[in-house]
Amino acid sequence: MNRSKRNRWAENEALSCVHEPDLTKVTAGGHYMRGRWGEEVFGNDHPIVLELGCGQGLFSVDLARRFPDRNFIGVDVKGHRFWRGARTATDEGIGNVAFLRARIQWLDRFFAGGEADEIWLTFSDPQLADKRGTKRLTSPYYQRLYSHILAPGGTLHVKTDSGDFHARTVEDAAESGLIVRDSSNNVHGEPEGRFDPELATSLAFITAFELRWIREGRRIHYASLEKGTEVADEDLAKAQMMLQGPAERVQPRRPKHLASDD
Ligand SMILES: C[S@@+](CC[C@H](N)C(=O)[O-])C[C@H]1O[C@@H](n2cnc3c(N)ncnc32)[C@H](O)[C@@H]1O
Repeated sequence: MNRSKRNRWAENEALSCVHEPDLTKVTAGGHYMRGRWGEEVFGNDHPIVLELGCGQGLFSVDLARRFPDRNFIGVDVKGHRFWRGARTATDEGIGNVAFLRARIQWLDRFFAGGEADEIWLTFSDPQLADKRGTKRLTSPYYQRLYSHILAPGGTLHVKTDSGDFHARTVEDAAESGLIVRDSSNNVHGEPEGRFDPELATSLAFITAFELRWIREGRRIHYASLEKGTEVADEDLAKAQMMLQGPAERVQPRRPKHLASDD
């Protein structure tokens, strides 16, 4: 195994901003920190912003520096990648950013309905061949999961190098109850003043993968989707079933002799 990966995993254990819960417990019916991030992790009730598939996590760190009155959580299944952001945040004493090792399809085990004000998806793998909607991170099933976690009026921001991924994301919004508020096919080529100043600042940050695509001459796309109506219980249950597997696997039935305690 790659030595630097192992070193980073070991170092993550000592960094207080890193959360690496036992994922087998979570997928077996448990949850982690759900509804308690503000109070227990950040010690305040400031708005919570998630970056899903954060990679190195330096975008989350940059946002945390710029917006000290918000809390940022970078989520990725690869802890050795976000070690970079966690190390930087620790060295600089930035207290409003945390990192969570988790799979995005289980997001509702980590965040309560309405707990996040914004969600960013940055340069997700486009997965355009995904017909079932279980791999592309902006399929209607994923969008419903995000919408559930967003507070009323909350925003899903999606930045990508793939025009097809961008188009599918925007197309699927109606099915997921999200409202398309903005769409750009050339973020870095837009005239000044096109985005409000705060959003322009966030969009100006160039992530590690984004830099690769820009060097290859690709255009960067952006969509902003706002939470509309609350996700219906049956739509959320379907999304959970599709992304997480059948309910029996998610919540094992209790043995019959214990059932009377329920
Ligand atoms: C193409 S990279 C982009 C990284 C970063 N956002 C950037 O722009 O540099 C995609 C990242 O998403 C993470 N990822 C992909 N699918 C995931 C999932 N289902 N759950 C958690 N992380 C995931 C990968 O581990 C990887 O770090």
